[in-house]
Amino acid sequence: MCGIVGYIGWQDAAPVLLSGLKRLEYRGYDSAGIALLNGTLSVMKQKGSVGGLETDTHTLRQGMPGATVGIGHTRWATHGEPSDRNAHPHLNAAGDIALIHNGIVENYSVLKQELVSLGYVFVSETDSEVLVHLIDRIWKGDPSLDLEAVTRSALRHVDGAYGLCVISLREPDKIVVARKGSPLVIGIGIGEYFIASDAAPIVEHTNKVVYLSDGDLAVVRREGYTIKTIENVEQEKIVTELEFSLEKIEKGGFEHFMLKEIFEQPAVMHDVMRGRVRLEEGRLCLGGIEDYLDRLKQAKRIVICACGTSWHAGLIGEYLIEEFARIPVEVDYASEFRYRNPIVGVDDVVIVISQSGETADTLAALRTAKEKGALVMGICNVVGSTIARETLCGMYTHAGPEVGVASTKAFTAQVIMLYMLALALSKGRTISNEEIALNLKELASIPEKAARILELDSQIKSIAERFKDAKNFLYLGRGFNFPVALEGALKLKEISYIHAEGYPAAEMKHGPIALIDEDMPVIFIATRDSTYTKILSNIEEVRSRKGRVIAIANEGDQEISRLAEHVIFIPQASGPITPLLTVIPLQLLAYHIATLRGCNVDRPRNLAKSVTVE
Ligand code: G6P
Repeated sequence: MCGIVGYIGWQDAAPVLLSGLKRLEYRGYDSAGIALLNGTLSVMKQKGSVGGLETDTHTLRQGMPGATVGIGHTRWATHGEPSDRNAHPHLNAAGDIALIHNGIVENYSVLKQELVSLGYVFVSETDSEVLVHLIDRIWKGDPSLDLEAVTRSALRHVDGAYGLCVISLREPDKIVVARKGSPLVIGIGIGEYFIASDAAPIVEHTNKVVYLSDGDLAVVRREGYTIKTIENVEQEKIVTELEFSLEKIEKGGFEHFMLKEIFEQPAVMHDVMRGRVRLEEGRLCLGGIEDYLDRLKQAKRIVICACGTSWHAGLIGEYLIEEFARIPVEVDYASEFRYRNPIVGVDDVVIVISQSGETADTLAALRTAKEKGALVMGICNVVGSTIARETLCGMYTHAGPEVGVASTKAFTAQVIMLYMLALALSKGRTISNEEIALNLKELASIPEKAARILELDSQIKSIAERFKDAKNFLYLGRGFNFPVALEGALKLKEISYIHAEGYPAAEMKHGPIALIDEDMPVIFIATRDSTYTKILSNIEEVRSRKGRVIAIANEGDQEISRLAEHVIFIPQASGPITPLLTVIPLQLLAYHIATLRGCNVDRPRNLAKSVTVE
């Protein structure tokens, strides 16, 4: 996601900030910028790479005195496409306050309306710009306050997540930083301090750091720093010594990006729902499709087009939309849809799903559907991507940049989006508001259950050790978990190069059963839903042919332990929501099998993260 750096001390700040931003490049970004205080407040920002910013900054700064205070940002777009205007830092109208922000201001549209009505002019489409104008307004209201007090006061109006830094020409010897839900760390040097969203930009300068906690607001000066809560209560913090290598920090302490991304899923699930699931009101707020919701509900048919893992999410979407909204859904491989002269027209809605938003086949399917007059909606992760721009309406998954080639967190984010979409399409039509509220409550409980599954990592690793030399794997599931079986098999194939197939469990007897012998591990997704007893019979069929059964089952299920050689127990959840949980052990199993076989999990052979050619 976005990256933050800040510097105050005695060095020339610009090169410190730019090299810090380069250290944050691994997180993924689409634009970058810095603000420097040297008698004036100058901002340089642009869409594109930190390298490009560095070249331009160098030209701009020629002849300017060096600044010893500054802030810098790499942006991963959430509100507003990647562009020079939307890049951070953002300035107030007078140009004497600059702010950088990570996270999402959930109530930004309300705040923006208020500010616009007071005459504030917004130059970007970001939620973050609201913050700098809000600080400005509060300061104008009471000029006797200092930067710390006005920032504190502004943040009291903000719902959502933030990690932010503010500097001002009016108080040039300080940086005010605050954290809620978006990490920040202060690096302690001699007569100088470094601020960053993780330790990567700091580690080359100092190994002494202080981690801010949620709700902290700090003022950093050359002489030292103070940390208080947003409520103005002083905080004592322990200074920690960094022991990580830079590489470890980039991967958040994990061996591989893929593992980091698997473990990020509980947090990502929160991010996907943030601002959209309104639990107190028992309703959804899906900004990107709100204006089209009535037309979406009137669709005669929904066609979902995608590739790879996104196609699997689409299959789950089919089950969810048909279950809740009772609208017929077809799921097509984008590559097939584009070439088979599909029957689609004005009564249809075509949903394209893509993590990257750049997959060539999905883009071509989108254009075909548009030509034929269908309403085209997108579910993408990368903001401002071609697919996101070309669809009429859509929703971003907000899963953050996914670096590992095998998709994990983007998949769970897509499934949550489809779950929310299915409920939104049902509202006022097929299910009651009470049922919607109950489903949302259950959805909100999923991140915590996902976190509990991640605790099973060492058990899953020991299962991987036993089966790492198998030549083939079979993955079986039914109902909502049939697509998960496909996704589990795909994960294993992609990164371990073991042949694996996913099948609907009942279909096994029409072919794959011929393959079963004592060398064949068979993974069953056997959670307690409407297909549970059927799955038990399928397990018996495999056992009687000496297949090696590994089951994903619900905690407290006694029966399954009798039938399966290994059981991975996961928390209970209702049928439609289980894919969000059952897929996690399968991601971990594939990961461990692949690493035990010495495979490069983040960059598997022959595969690309984004397939922009046919
Ligand atoms: C490639 C990636 C997969 C991904 C698929 C679709 O094959 O390796 O992980 O699922 O493309 O990508 P998209 O960006 O459209 O979701």
